Amino acid sequence: MIQEQKENPRRLIIVAYRLPFKIINENGQSEFQQNSGGLVSAVLSLVGNQKDAFFDEDQKIQWIGSSQNSREELDGHNLANETFEAHPVFIPDQIHENYYEGFCNNLIWPLCHYFPSLARFNDAYFYAYQTANELFFAKLAQVIMPGDVVWVQDYQLMLLPAMIRAKFPENQVGFFFHIPFPSYELFRLLPVKWRKALMDGILGADVVGFHTNDYVEYFLKAAKLVTGYGNRLHYINTGSRIVKVDSFPISIDFQKFNADYDNPAVVLTRVQAKLSLSEKIIFSVDRLDYSKGIRHRLLGFTRFLEQYPYWHGKVTLVMVVVPSRDTIEHYQNMKMEIDQTVGRINSDYGNIGWQPVIYQYRSMPYTELVGMYTASDVALITPIRDGMNLVCKEFVASRKDCQGVLILSEMAGAAAELGEALIINPLDVQDISDAILNGFQMPLEEQTKRMAAMRERIKDYDVFAWTNDFFTQMNMLELEHERLRQV
Ligand code: G6P
Repeated sequence: MIQEQKENPRRLIIVAYRLPFKIINENGQSEFQQNSGGLVSAVLSLVGNQKDAFFDEDQKIQWIGSSQNSREELDGHNLANETFEAHPVFIPDQIHENYYEGFCNNLIWPLCHYFPSLARFNDAYFYAYQTANELFFAKLAQVIMPGDVVWVQDYQLMLLPAMIRAKFPENQVGFFFHIPFPSYELFRLLPVKWRKALMDGILGADVVGFHTNDYVEYFLKAAKLVTGYGNRLHYINTGSRIVKVDSFPISIDFQKFNADYDNPAVVLTRVQAKLSLSEKIIFSVDRLDYSKGIRHRLLGFTRFLEQYPYWHGKVTLVMVVVPSRDTIEHYQNMKMEIDQTVGRINSDYGNIGWQPVIYQYRSMPYTELVGMYTASDVALITPIRDGMNLVCKEFVASRKDCQGVLILSEMAGAAAELGEALIINPLDVQDISDAILNGFQMPLEEQTKRMAAMRERIKDYDVFAWTNDFFTQMNMLELEHERLRQV
């Protein structure tokens, strides 16, 4: 029997620090709980939409990542759902501590977010980073087949592309860096051996993606200074290969957020919030992280209350902080500081009938989140550094009513796309206070004008466009390689 030739017989393999789901046991029944992060939604956007344009649509997406479950918990489970087949990587505790808490989050994260004073340098960290990357590679080596396309994600796996290139030179490899790539003055703080290893690692990929043009520029400069490889028009020539470096601003499913404006559960939260909270609602939501500017945001709100007694009793800041990395001491201290600052604001300004800040240290279910986005007068998004920031895009996409004001830090990658927001410097508490007042006083007509422009832009470059753009570039580069091989 002649088999029908498939147009795209290739599979997609994602390698990321985490698997896209964990197994939870409830009443003796175990089920998959899908993670809600931006990457999972982005990869899901391929499914049923455009996957067949790039990959074999009958094949599940293979996902290699560390498991949030123990080996025993996973024993006997078929680690697949209708979309993904998961391949867990188990990292021994001691390696994991020096890898994840150490190299990734005590060194790379603070450096890339411009907090060099928080960076800790330790040989054991680098050793663990190498070992962990090798463990991811060992799992990949069991899964990969000729023709598979591998997409490596983020700062936890910078050494992996070169490992793949060395053993599987025929497979296409993409790499995406989800956090800011810093100016060379920060990158060069890494010991020479480490920066060289990281750069060589990343340059094992065919296409290297960042969120903004600035990150691309910084990376091209660092690549040249660290390796000596020249570049032209975003192509780096390593002597034996061409690597394409470009910006792909990650996005969200615009239509989903837009449509959910009318979702009954969203409407209920919106109505309840508007009835029970103050005349004006300010909303913020972030992972717990010093890069998110939560402390300065609270100081900005305090300044606003100090300056404008008229608004006492008439404004509520609803602040959601999602627990994160709470095994790291700095994060624990920050949590205490936020708790204290919120307590101080509420005790200094609040009274029986009014609580200025409503704060939860817990994630918020999706419909409640969209309910709050659409109930708010102002979204206050003030990271000190952020690779992109999807919260502001979600807020804008949810505002089918074209109302509400976005206050956005100039240090978020998203600020490059959302110029109609009230752009602030997140360290300048007076700027934050002024922007809150401007937001409250902004005429509806102007809110609509600004919101409509931002919505149009996010609608055009949504998450489907993001994945499409990345894999189109991968395909184009492959054609180019093909052409060069024939010359
Ligand atoms: C950022 C990073 C991701 C990371 C996420 C959550 O968005 O780019 O790679 O997974 O933060 O951090 P966590 O340490 O909980 O994985």
